[in-house]
Amino acid sequence: GVARLADRFFDVGLTGTRLQSRIPLPREFENPLPIPPVLRPVRRDSDTDYYRVVQMPASVEILPGSRTEIWGYNGMFPGPTIRATSGRKVVVTHQNRLPIPTVVHLHGGKTPPEHDGYPTDLVLPSGQSHIHQLEGHSLRVIGHGEYSYEYPNQQPAATLWYHDHRMDFTGPQVYRGLAGFYLLTDDQERSLPLPSEDRDIPLMICDRSFDEDGSLMYPSVDPSLMGQPGVVNEYMDGVLGDVILVNGVPWPYMNVSRVRYRFRVLNASNARRYRLVLDPPPPEGYSFTQIGSDVGLLESPVRLHKLEIAPAERYDLIVDFSAYQSGDVITLRNELGNGKTALVMQFRVSGKADEYSQIPSRLSEIERLAASDALVRRRFVFARGVARNSSHTSVAPVAMWTINGQPFDPMRIDADVELGATEIWRITTNVHHPVHLHLAHFQVLSRNGGPPGPYDAGWKDTVDMGQGDTVEILARFDGYKGKYVFHCHNLEHEDMAMMGNIRVS
Ligand code: C2O
Ligand code: CU
Repeated sequence: GVARLADRFFDVGLTGTRLQSRIPLPREFENPLPIPPVLRPVRRDSDTDYYRVVQMPASVEILPGSRTEIWGYNGMFPGPTIRATSGRKVVVTHQNRLPIPTVVHLHGGKTPPEHDGYPTDLVLPSGQSHIHQLEGHSLRVIGHGEYSYEYPNQQPAATLWYHDHRMDFTGPQVYRGLAGFYLLTDDQERSLPLPSEDRDIPLMICDRSFDEDGSLMYPSVDPSLMGQPGVVNEYMDGVLGDVILVNGVPWPYMNVSRVRYRFRVLNASNARRYRLVLDPPPPEGYSFTQIGSDVGLLESPVRLHKLEIAPAERYDLIVDFSAYQSGDVITLRNELGNGKTALVMQFRVSGKADEYSQIPSRLSEIERLAASDALVRRRFVFARGVARNSSHTSVAPVAMWTINGQPFDPMRIDADVELGATEIWRITTNVHHPVHLHLAHFQVLSRNGGPPGPYDAGWKDTVDMGQGDTVEILARFDGYKGKYVFHCHNLEHEDMAMMGNIRVS
């Protein structure tokens, strides 16, 4: 059952499959990379910047010559970039002019619970006064037409992002375009001689597929089919598109000078993982120098031949194009794709420019958490399971994605945590799952009994887990009391109930 999103605003969002566009795909590397515009505050006072965002449908040209209806923050995909400074508050008033309820999560933010985008906290469309009855009773309306999210920004410089988080519908709503960057800086970061301004480039990478009329394609399963043999497997593994977009443009190119650039790479795909590499690689063989992880700068730079990146992860990278010659053309490839999904974007190297940047050997001070800091240990198994009477099922038991055998229940607490505590979570996965915690930032303590992997450095909020992996993380639950979620960030897995509750008190 592949249907257009427009046909399913209110159906049960349990969906996913490998999609094939029904429209001729554009040639690669024909359009320049756009940079999402930085949003201007509508007002500032002594300690706060105030923003307004309108969530609305818009018709945009993604594939040359055809129109695609997106749902965008200010009608844009990606949404506008918000730039914030540690210690200075940000208030974003989101107005909902979409035909569906929404809720915004600042991914990687330490945010009070009422502003964190809890999946059943809903902002109804302007003019809508009730929620469709299909959606159960645990929902809470936090806004009629709009809501002001407050972000204290009491955390170090990091590449954060904001996106929709509505229960059961995060996959289709993000797929439609509800995602943007939120770049947090601080004095420490600003004191470093890193590439900046037009050499500090956010890259939002995601995959989509398009129907013959240019509309976004997203699979849909009729709720009345749920639980019938053969139906479930079609959408179980997540949605994979066949068009790779960077900042909303298919396979773009970027002109670069022979100097260092900073790329803040975000994998905003619903389910696709990438292994990125420069082709040809620089003479030394290392494509990237990593300087930051999900939620902050590393202590010292790490050189990477390749970068494996799962949904929701961010890697802050430096690429030094002075290792190339003027006229060189370099492809950013995805070793986990094939055919066109093996291509991401292209860099065209032109002349030499003034080089002012350096990669300092010391980037930041990271407090190393130790196993002895943790008084509580928990175990979580992320795997398939069966849901009987969850909010997701109006019919017979269905296969779903579960944590410790249980599908998400907004009313059940899965981890009761003390404010300020550090805990060891031992997480095991049956297949690939990027596991994300709200509120808590963490460090990877071990991977499959050994040391952390090559991509585990620094403070993280999402850990990429492979088939049969066991990872131990040291998570610190500081910030605020309240109820937060943790979940798989394969958005179809999340929508199919692979989510739990943390209560911090
Ligand atoms: Cu990026 Cu709970 O989300
Ligand atoms: Cu998953």
